[in-house]
Amino acid sequence: MSELKPARILAIETSCDETACAILENGRALLSSVVASQMDIHARYGGVFPEVASRQHVLSIIPVVQQALTRAHLTLNDIDAIAVTQGPGLAGSLIVGMNMAKGMALALDKPIIGVNHLEGHIYSSWVYEAGENVPPEPQFPLMALLVSGGHTELNLMTDHLTYQRLGSTLDDAAGEAFDKVARLLELPYPGGPSIQKAAEEGDPGRFNFPRAWLDGTWNFSFSGVKTSVLYEVQSLKKRSNGIPVHDLAASFQKAVVDVLFKKTMDAAREFGAKEILVAGGVSANRTLRQTFKAQTEFPMHIPPLSLCTDNAAMIGAAGYYRYALGHVSELEMDILPTWPLS
Ligand code: KG4
Ligand code: ZN
Repeated sequence: MSELKPARILAIETSCDETACAILENGRALLSSVVASQMDIHARYGGVFPEVASRQHVLSIIPVVQQALTRAHLTLNDIDAIAVTQGPGLAGSLIVGMNMAKGMALALDKPIIGVNHLEGHIYSSWVYEAGENVPPEPQFPLMALLVSGGHTELNLMTDHLTYQRLGSTLDDAAGEAFDKVARLLELPYPGGPSIQKAAEEGDPGRFNFPRAWLDGTWNFSFSGVKTSVLYEVQSLKKRSNGIPVHDLAASFQKAVVDVLFKKTMDAAREFGAKEILVAGGVSANRTLRQTFKAQTEFPMHIPPLSLCTDNAAMIGAAGYYRYALGHVSELEMDILPTWPLS
């Protein structure tokens, strides 16, 4: 992308329970990334407590931005533009990051770029640590599987910032299903990593949970598999056999990954994609990563673990391409409640 203008972007992400700031050069080279997680605080409640999340962002945002600048050995004068997550997310959390970004853009007289959180996840595959080997840049047309706590969808990406949404979940998102099944199995929050851990010692073939293929569409459904786990647990409890948590977790995980993998591969072939990209918190899942990486037909982009869950580097990458391609936002911009992108 040598034709795009160079820029150093400072990015802020506060859509949920991570206060994050990153500095990125030309959409790819990561100079610093700071993520202050509130996970331990919310674990007490078994999920994110929105009011508590907003207050933590208020406490963390200034030190996190200062730390990102310090780690990059830069000052605010070295920044060309500010990118910030505009949504979707918790309103009270988004407001903290957006107001910080607006204040900085106003004080420094620099452009501001509102970034869709989901577009950010997709762009995490463009990011690499400055000074390390430059990984190949994703090539279009690209089949992008987005699997986060709130979304599961297949998007055909034909160019930068250009998406055709082929299908999405009709009920639970993949991450949501992981979280709900973890609760059902009485595994600690956050559910995805807990299921993964429990599954490591389990037999994925012990329970044959249903796979909703939804043939003829590119949609997903995960409420059926979740309900099947519930019925199995209830039945096991009635028979007072004890709950084989490891086998249940492994069988559930396999059922979800099977569907995500097969539908993504089918869609990539059908739409003539050159490469596949997987993004969002669930892409941190080890079984998912192994399954997708084992296929040899398509070059595969799955971000390193630190960029799978929420971070600001991905917002800086998407923000750069928006900035370089002329999509600068108004200082007066509002929260963006939904995907799809315009
Ligand atoms: O992208 P993300 O950090 O936040 C949203 O934008 O939603 O995704 C969070 C989701 C949660 O549902 C979490 O349980 C899931 O990603 N997750 C995982 C793993 N790590 C995080 N799911 C399965 N396996 C994991 N290792
Ligand atoms: Zn996310």
